[in-house]
Parts: sequence; C-alpha cells; structure tokens
Amino acid sequence: MSKENIAIPTEFQINDTIHQKHYLVDGELKEWNGNSADVYSTISSTETYAPTYLGSAPDMGEAEALDALDAAEKAFAKGQGAWPTMRVRDRIECMEQFVEKMKTKRDLVVKLLMWEIGKTLPDSEKEFDRTVNYINDTIENYKALDRDSAKFQKNSGVMAHIRRGPLGVVLCLGPYNYPLNETFCLLIPAILMGNTAVFKPAKIGVLLITPLLEAFKESFPKGVVNVLFGRGRAIAGPIMKTGKVDVLALIGHSSSANALQDQHPKSNRLRLVLGLEAKNPAIVLPDADLDLTINECLAGTLSFNGQRCTALKVVYVHDEIVDEFNKRFSEEVDKLPFGNPWEKGVKLTPLPEAGKPAYIQELLDDAIAKGAKILNKKGGQHFDNYIWPAVVYPVTKDMRLYDEEQFGPIIPILSFNDIEQPLDDMAESNYGQQVSLFGKDVYTLAPLIDTLANLVCRVNLNSSCQRGPDAYPFTGRKDSAVATLSVHDALRSFSIRTFVASKDIELNNEILEKLLETRLSNFVSTDYIL
Ligand code: G3H
Repeated sequence: MSKENIAIPTEFQINDTIHQKHYLVDGELKEWNGNSADVYSTISSTETYAPTYLGSAPDMGEAEALDALDAAEKAFAKGQGAWPTMRVRDRIECMEQFVEKMKTKRDLVVKLLMWEIGKTLPDSEKEFDRTVNYINDTIENYKALDRDSAKFQKNSGVMAHIRRGPLGVVLCLGPYNYPLNETFCLLIPAILMGNTAVFKPAKIGVLLITPLLEAFKESFPKGVVNVLFGRGRAIAGPIMKTGKVDVLALIGHSSSANALQDQHPKSNRLRLVLGLEAKNPAIVLPDADLDLTINECLAGTLSFNGQRCTALKVVYVHDEIVDEFNKRFSEEVDKLPFGNPWEKGVKLTPLPEAGKPAYIQELLDDAIAKGAKILNKKGGQHFDNYIWPAVVYPVTKDMRLYDEEQFGPIIPILSFNDIEQPLDDMAESNYGQQVSLFGKDVYTLAPLIDTLANLVCRVNLNSSCQRGPDAYPFTGRKDSAVATLSVHDALRSFSIRTFVASKDIELNNEILEKLLETRLSNFVSTDYIL
C-alpha cells in the first residue's frame, strides 16, 4: 500500500494541525480544557486513501452554553446595554473594523474551506469575497435605512420619529455547505441592528471560523458576539429552554428548527429567521434551448456536488424532448472533472460527510428497485470519498428520491406531457423555494410564471436556481424558509419598528427640539450618516 503523499500545492498543504483551545464569551477568549472533537477532512493527503487529520475543536456543553447566553443577555441588558443603545455610526465603525481584520485571514479561511468541506478553490474564494462584500453592502444599506429614519412625521396631530430597533438575543446556527457565508448573512445584520448573539458553527466547517475569533473579540464590545463549539443538541437545546432567546436564526433543516423552537417556553416571543430545505424543480418545456438548458441544469444540479439548498433537486422534462435531454445531459455529467478542490478546472469534489455516499446509494437502490435506471455510464461509481452523480430516470412518486432532499450528487428526472403534473407536484410538495423554467414561447410561459410565482418565491427563467445576487430577496414558502434574507431584508428581519410619538403641542415640540440640539439621545436623531 502506498503511503506516498499526493501532490498538493505548498500553499494548500496542511503542515500544522489546528487545536482550537479557546472560545469567545463575554469579550474573552476563554481557555477550553474539556473534551475536544477531532476534525478530519474526507480528502486524502496520501495515495492510499485515508482521511486527513486537521485538528480538533472544543466539544462544549450546557454550562458553557448558558455562560455564553448570559454574556449575550448582559450585553443587551434589557435594551440598556452599550451596544443596543449605541449610535448607529458607532456600531457601523465596529463592523468596519471587523471586516478589515477579517480580510487579513482570507488565505487561511479559504484553505480550510477546501479541506473541511471540499469546496473548490474558486468557490471557496468566492465564498470569502462574497461574504466581505455582503458585510460592506449591509453597512451601506444600514446607512441608507438610518438616513430614511432621520426625520419626523406628523399624522392626525401626532408627531412620530420612527426607527428600527433590535430584538434582543439571537441564537445563530449556520450550515456546513456555506459555513462562512450563510452564517454571516445571519450574524452580521443581526448584530449590526443592535442585537447580541450566541453563535455556533455547523458540525462541519468549524476550524475555518477560528481565525476570526480575535477579530470578533477586538471589534465589538464584550458579550455582543459569543462563539461556542460543539454539537447542536448539547448547546442549542439548553439555550432555547431558558426562554431567553428572542430570535432563532438558523440555516439548516426544518426538523432542527422545529425541535429548537419547541423547546422555547414562550414560542410567541420567539422570532424566526430560517433558511430551510428545498427541492427546487427544473421544468423543461418542449421548445427549450437544449444547449443552454443542459448547461444550466448541470450547474444547478451539481455545483458543489448538489450540496446547496438552492440546487435543482428534481428535473421535469417534456415527453417530446426527454430522450434527447437525457442522452446529452448524461454525457455531460460524465465529462465533469472530479478531483481535490485546488485542482484546476475541477467541478466535482470529495463529499465532506463521510456517510453521504452510502446515503446516496440508498436513494439509488430504492429508485432502481422501484423501476428507475441509471442513465450515465459512471453513475453511482464509488470512490473512497465520493459517489459519481447518477442521472436517474424515470423517477416516480413512490421513490425516496422524489421526496427527500438529496443534498448530494444524484439527479432524479421525470417526464411529463401535461404541465399540470409538475404544477400539481409542486403544490403538493413540502417545499417552496425556487423553480427553473426552461422554454421560449411567451404564450406558454406567461400563465406558467403567474402560477409558479405563487408556488415558490423565485422563478428563474432559462437559468438555474441560486441565492445571489445578495441584493435580491432570498426566502421560501412552506418548509423552505421563515422570513426573508437579502442585504436589505435581513436588516428588517433582525429588527422591529419602534418609535417616539408625541402630541403636537408646544411642550413636546420644545423637548424634541432640545433633544435634537443637545444630541443627548442616540435614538432621537436627525443626523445623516453619509
Ligand atoms: O445552500 C443554499 C445557499 O444559499 C445557496 O446559495 O445559490 O449562491 O449557491 P447559492
């Protein structure tokens, strides 16, 4: 057996393992002396396959979870804390400091993204840069929001100064597939609006957060951001049970979201910001441009091996073109280059969950037992840390692959001759995030768009589904989301409208004028942040 090292560019080699021994609570990087969880990459560094040991992270429990919650609660201090009452421009300054410090960690975070979750180098770089841009855009949007609030209104003899205020303590839990971007798309707007947060990285993609702990510590007042490591059940459950969480911000599965919200003793107080599972369909009409459709379906189904909530997870193709589509699509799937994330031009990469190939195989076995076939030659081939994407046809409703969000490399295809079939399926399904519609004829497309817009929250015309650009609303119906995220919407999701009202009488107007003149209040202010 060859233990020889495979060729890895020097800058991406793992020379030192990372043993994270600190966590951030109450503005302090506290030392952790308890149990640690080993972190392995499913990528092998040697020719004979073996997972690569990357290091370890704290495996924390209830006591530390409650400490972190306590710190966040103290920092919010029932709305009296320095952070929630701070002037907007000062909070923005803290965030600007943070993003500058974060940028210095790009190389290490990108390298860890590749090793921990198997994301390609360009996509890992994109995830980092997109997150930095998201933070900068969030700051600009907050300035604009603040400028819009720097005024008084008068209605029916009542003056009002209306702003958006924080909600309190946010428990923030992110997913493994975008461990930086998706998590920060929750955390950043949440804290910028004046909330305080307890944040725990996902089960995979943990070490890549550790280079940022110092930046959090140095940029924000103590207790505003608290970072814990460990299993969700051990940490998030006890936090929710206290009833002290005001917002549950989670990107993940509805089963986790439901389990957590059920533990909150006063669920009516709990605001939810959730990005959940989806099974976005592609609908390919008979007049679709097949070259374009196949390209978009390839990217939609298989970017990051299908591990995206926005991935196309079921493909409906019209009877008239299904044979040609299947043939050409299957050929293209087999041409995709597989390799380690830093390899040039690579499209398919190792799966970060060790058990994922076996799960995909189960879906495949079930579909085959119920009459489906694998259309592509390489479909279902196993590697040590991968299973080649199988194009599976014809998929029927009794198959697990039809219902379950596969979140991995397997593509179910169904054919249809009546457009009502995919529409009915979508209406019946538990999901409602996005759809991709491929076709040309406007007389066919128009009524379809009108219906689809009421079944999902984004209809992608001749384009695969995706979250970006981040200026656009990202949300879903049914089990796919609660609340809306975009640079603009997230600031609203993590805040509430709150205002000072006064009857338009001399006494009140004099007070308001003095408040503005003296600048004693951080809330009542007509200052413009440019
Ligand atoms: O996992 C879900 C992500 O929000 C998908 O984002 O469409 O940019 O890959 P994306």
